[in-house]
Amino acid sequence: MSAAAIRLAQEADLDNIMTLEHECFATDAWSRGNMHLELMAHHTTYAVIYEGERLIAYAGLSKVPGSDQSDIQTIAVAPAARGRGLGKALMLHLIAEARKQHANDMFLEVRADNPVAQALYLGLGFEHIDTRKNYYQPDGIDAWVMRLQFAKASVGREPIVLGIESSCDETGVGIVRGNTLLANVISSSMDEHARFGGVVPEIAARAHLEALQPTLREALRQANLSLQDIDAIAVTNGPGLGGALMVGIGAAKALAVSLNKPIYAVNHLVGHVGVDILERGKLETPTIALLVSGGHTSLLLVRDLLTDVELLGETIDDAAGEAFDKVARVLGLKYPGGPEIDRAAASGNPKAIRFPRGLTQPKDMQKHRYDFSFSGLKTAVARWVEVAEAKGEPFSVANVAASFREAVVDVLVTKAVNACVAHGVPRLLLGGGVVANARLREVAEQRCAEHGIELRIPAFNLCTDNGAMIATLGAQLIMAGRQPSSLNFGSESTLPVTTVQSL
Ligand code: KG4
Ligand code: ZN
Repeated sequence: MSAAAIRLAQEADLDNIMTLEHECFATDAWSRGNMHLELMAHHTTYAVIYEGERLIAYAGLSKVPGSDQSDIQTIAVAPAARGRGLGKALMLHLIAEARKQHANDMFLEVRADNPVAQALYLGLGFEHIDTRKNYYQPDGIDAWVMRLQFAKASVGREPIVLGIESSCDETGVGIVRGNTLLANVISSSMDEHARFGGVVPEIAARAHLEALQPTLREALRQANLSLQDIDAIAVTNGPGLGGALMVGIGAAKALAVSLNKPIYAVNHLVGHVGVDILERGKLETPTIALLVSGGHTSLLLVRDLLTDVELLGETIDDAAGEAFDKVARVLGLKYPGGPEIDRAAASGNPKAIRFPRGLTQPKDMQKHRYDFSFSGLKTAVARWVEVAEAKGEPFSVANVAASFREAVVDVLVTKAVNACVAHGVPRLLLGGGVVANARLREVAEQRCAEHGIELRIPAFNLCTDNGAMIATLGAQLIMAGRQPSSLNFGSESTLPVTTVQSL
């Protein structure tokens, strides 16, 4: 639908508008009398979109002469016509109209439970500036008050960046505008790996190929944008599984070339750190970051997101999530093992069995102070179960799970907190799928509080692998004035954290 199909409303549209009003706002529709007054008022501009004889969308603007403020009074799109960009077209029309009438900014209210509409307005440059409690009656839903400042929107506009992530088993496409999240869609091939008990690289790569297009489409739909609205593409080029990475890189390059947009090849691990910007508006530095997933276990010291990320330590064998997956298998639990062990451990005694804490002996403090090792722990659990079974002694899976979980969590949190203390950094940021672990959160909260360390745990769908974190890192690079990557970069399975962007 093009903007050309939009026209100004007339009195004769009133019947159709009221029909659509009732269709869209069952419980709080305006009365016909009120709508008539609105439509005819001198300070309002109503715009309508018809499809044949049928009215399918309308919206109204109020701009009092002499005031520099404008307000969106209402906007409605017929349920059957949603997802086609009609709301956005109407908004752009009314924004242009308000500017013509010399407004400086535009206000609107949107239901707090309507993320699709919020994404539309955020994408247009509106900011959420206030919340009105119980605004929408009779349901008692809060209203977000949003404001678009025209001057701000036209000068130094924040870039809209589309990020693609495919380093492991999640296909992620995210869209941000500067520091603001517009869409975050994740498709996981986890189920396809279940019968193998771990991620199979070939299966992951193939799954990315199948998931990319629908994931991309859904992200654009969520953000209410078309590909032409995107200013730049960002993509993970490492570290991760070579074949899996290549699928995302191929797609990103194809998009960049066909849309003639710049491309930024970025570091997956640094992406996990930068994602905090989406919730806080900025990254507080310095910060220690503990990234724990099925693919990595890394402890970072971040002094500056784009220029100074140091790897303090990482796993020398299994990743933390991998340890959960392998031990779950030993205990006859399903894949992925993390949630299963978490559940089983809830009723167990964490002190029942003292399992080894890898690389925590005094002798390890020289070379491996901040490194991790989970393979000895995994073997210890397997041995313990074997011995119990050989003796024919019944044992409590809950106790084994709780004791194992305690050992992993203890090491992770101890090393992270030690790093904070040793480097005088009063902040710890967590990332990766293992962050879902209930005990990890609990112990991290406790120990951080004891040491006066501020703990940051982003929302779970920003912790697991996702495209929004990649888009965010791309946007930060653009806003810092960095040049795009050339089209020559490839997948780098072992990309070091010091390389934030591959040129
Ligand atoms: O970040 P993520 O989704 O992506 C990959 O690494 O692919 O992490 C998945 C990992 C799996 O190993 C899974 O077992 C682990 O995170 N995980 C957990 C929990 N939920 C997921 N580990 C411990 N406790 C959990 N509740
Ligand atoms: Zn990751």
